[in-house]
Amino acid sequence: MIRRIKGTQDIYFEEMKYWHYVESAVRKVTKLYAFEEIRTPIFEATELFKRSVGESTDVVQKEMYTFEDKGGRSITLRPEGTASVARAFVENGFINLGAPIKLYYMGPMFRYERPQAGRLRQFHQIGIETLGSQHPMADYEIIEFAVTFLKRLKIDDVKLYINSVGCEKCRPTYRQALKDYYADKIDGLCGDCKRRYDLNIMRLLDCKVDGDIAAKAPTIHSYLCDECSAHFNELQELLKANDIDYEIDQRLVRGLDYYTKTAFEIRADSLGSQNQILGGGRYDGLVEYIGGKFVPAVGFAAGIERIIMVLKSLGITPETEDIPSVAILPMGKESFALAFEYARRFRRRGLSVFVDVMDRNLRNRLKHAARIGAKIAVILGEEEVEKNMVTIKVLDTGSQFKVDGDFAARFVQEKLKEI
Ligand code: HAM
Repeated sequence: MIRRIKGTQDIYFEEMKYWHYVESAVRKVTKLYAFEEIRTPIFEATELFKRSVGESTDVVQKEMYTFEDKGGRSITLRPEGTASVARAFVENGFINLGAPIKLYYMGPMFRYERPQAGRLRQFHQIGIETLGSQHPMADYEIIEFAVTFLKRLKIDDVKLYINSVGCEKCRPTYRQALKDYYADKIDGLCGDCKRRYDLNIMRLLDCKVDGDIAAKAPTIHSYLCDECSAHFNELQELLKANDIDYEIDQRLVRGLDYYTKTAFEIRADSLGSQNQILGGGRYDGLVEYIGGKFVPAVGFAAGIERIIMVLKSLGITPETEDIPSVAILPMGKESFALAFEYARRFRRRGLSVFVDVMDRNLRNRLKHAARIGAKIAVILGEEEVEKNMVTIKVLDTGSQFKVDGDFAARFVQEKLKEI
């Protein structure tokens, strides 16, 4: 048997209800906040991610699904969405449309990570990005969106962490301070930290293995330039004024290279080690870096699988907007064509109709109708066809009614309201 690839999932039936619940909340909240949808390709030129996510990151060094296509181009399955949005912004000339441009996306992302609960190789993100504003109001709005979105899903057992990672003006001095601090400790550090010491020293701060050493490292706050410092203060004022609780996590540095100034994450302790349900921040240099003009931007992305894990851990069941389901069961050749005529009539009233296209006995038909969640079965036997009537069976109670065929659709609709 051919099995699915490690770290991927099939999503179906009951599980799908959680997905629809989350996706419909995304559609609602993005509309309320005036974000427009963008769909970008699932694969891009490898160079895009190397440049934007950063050569020194784990994502680029170890986790990308990269292959050569038949034309000899290096292609990568997108590991995240921000780089593609920035590319689309430049390529499609969004800069001419005025600022800000507010976009959202949903879809699969690919990272070759070690699979475990909440960590997949194909996972799904919801992301929003505001491009064109340098003002902390834009950062604030992105964070408020994240908080509102989780509230709409009734997720409240989460915590917001914020930090500033500085900018290219203030970071070099801070990096040097870290290098000095770690210089005599390097031999005792884990393999990842040793590698990152030269590549990306700030990532040593969020190492889970060498946490104690990181906890005593110099923090960025005394190194921030005036501009970054003012930006961070203003963001905090906005959060406080709007009653959004947060904690400053001085070791929050994010795993992607494009961040400047604001970085933030929302974590759910109930998730264990993969507790970050969403993360984001400001990336003022990215658009220019991939060939556009200077376009400051800020955004975040959330993992849908992780959100669903939180929903389940909190016992939240999805509110689905299912339309009532009717199963039509044609019991003999003379009723086959008629079954589809009835189905059309019912569907015109907005009902969801399942026509049983199997050749089997009534017991098995009823059993299957119940399995798919049908509330009412409409039985079309020889006698029913002859007399232009139908037998209607309410599956939960077993009660049955014989109804004139011409009134069947209205009768079913009324009955469904009572159930
Ligand atoms: P990220 O922190 O790499 O940021 O990913 C965002 C979210 O995607 C994580 O918080 C997590 O919920 C989910 N996620 C990441 N990797 C996996 C995985 N292997 N399995 C399951 N879920 C995962 C970004 O991707 C940035 N593009 C966010 C952003 C948007 N920053 C600015 N704008």
